[in-house]
Amino acid sequence: MTTGERPLASTGRARAGRAPAEAPGRQDWTSWPHYDGAAEGFRGYWYPATWSSHVTDKPRPFTICGERITLIRDAGTAYALHDRCPHRGVPLSEGDQQFPGTVSCPYHGWTFDLPTGRLAAVITDGPGCRLVGKVAVRTYAVEERLGMVWVYIPLADEEPHPVDSQLPEELVDNPFVMGGRIEPRGGNWRFACENGFDEGHAKYLHRTALWRLFKPMPTWNITRIVPRDRWIYRVQDEVHWEADFPGVGRWSNKRWWKKRPPRETFNIGNTGKADTVDPTIEAQEFPGFASLSMPGVLRIAYPKFIHYEFYVPVDADHHRYVGVMVNFTEGWETLRFYAKYLGAIRWLFHGQFSAQDAWMVDVTDAPPEKLYRPDISLTAWRNLSEEEYGGKLAAVGAKPQAPTDEKKA
Ligand code: FES
Ligand SMILES: [Fe+2]
Repeated sequence: MTTGERPLASTGRARAGRAPAEAPGRQDWTSWPHYDGAAEGFRGYWYPATWSSHVTDKPRPFTICGERITLIRDAGTAYALHDRCPHRGVPLSEGDQQFPGTVSCPYHGWTFDLPTGRLAAVITDGPGCRLVGKVAVRTYAVEERLGMVWVYIPLADEEPHPVDSQLPEELVDNPFVMGGRIEPRGGNWRFACENGFDEGHAKYLHRTALWRLFKPMPTWNITRIVPRDRWIYRVQDEVHWEADFPGVGRWSNKRWWKKRPPRETFNIGNTGKADTVDPTIEAQEFPGFASLSMPGVLRIAYPKFIHYEFYVPVDADHHRYVGVMVNFTEGWETLRFYAKYLGAIRWLFHGQFSAQDAWMVDVTDAPPEKLYRPDISLTAWRNLSEEEYGGKLAAVGAKPQAPTDEKKA
């Protein structure tokens, strides 16, 4: 174990103890009030909205944390404005650019300065319009990282923290190539995030994925959750490839055409130990292959690449899935990665495998819920978010604003 880690809890039966038969398991989310209240997402974070190349001089609408935003690019810089004209409430994303550095509402030509959101001119009221400079739409901080446009959704009126402090650390300074998918999906963002870090499902739900056609998945594991810095990690202490279920039968995902399961327990990749691990990935000394941080950033470390998922809250019933596969190579090696990404990973992993997750996230309906031993991954994440968000509220010294359009207009 690396310095700074504390074992948080174990899913081991010996340590978990046994609840009395009559005691109900956790049924609701009242132990995590901030999390419970975050159906539309945690404010006070950066969220990726779309690919940088999709933000052009034509404004486009996005909803993040229940907030309607329009993104537009002018002279190379991306801007985010509240997507509602204060005149009669028409979305500015329906408008276009009439003057450099501005966006104009399509209805009566109210024209807003992009950096400040201030009303710069009203085309249909002539040059002397008295409202100019007195009315503004809200603007949002924007950054571009990983080929995407990131928008800061404020809690109150605080200054945003640097976007880099929220990215996985290894993506800030190392050279890498990447491929990815951004998809609107049904289901609350918390179900997506919980699914990403969920200890129990991958070995069962994904047993039929083509991505796993030649690699067996375990039957069950003993897993610990280990916090380190702002992340929590799933650490596998035991991996079981088959099991006899008393009175029911034997179950295994081993098949004659699949690779033999590894003998030793492993913590990079989820199907076995690799002969060589990429030096950049090895240098991170991740305690476990799956890790999660606020506000819903999942990292799955494989021997040669790392897969990330960012769960972007849209509204209570929709989220945006951002899946990115990163390879820490430079030069000619990058071609090999692109060929592998476009030829296989994009379709098998970001496609069919990930579609199984999307299906479950869309049909999950909780609370109420009755958790089981592997759900330590879910409760650890909820505890992490509860603690970090509580700290953030205290630091900002304000109650979160209700994300209603009325307030922001
Ligand atoms: S509604 Fe936007 S200009 Fe009238
Ligand atoms: Fe999954």
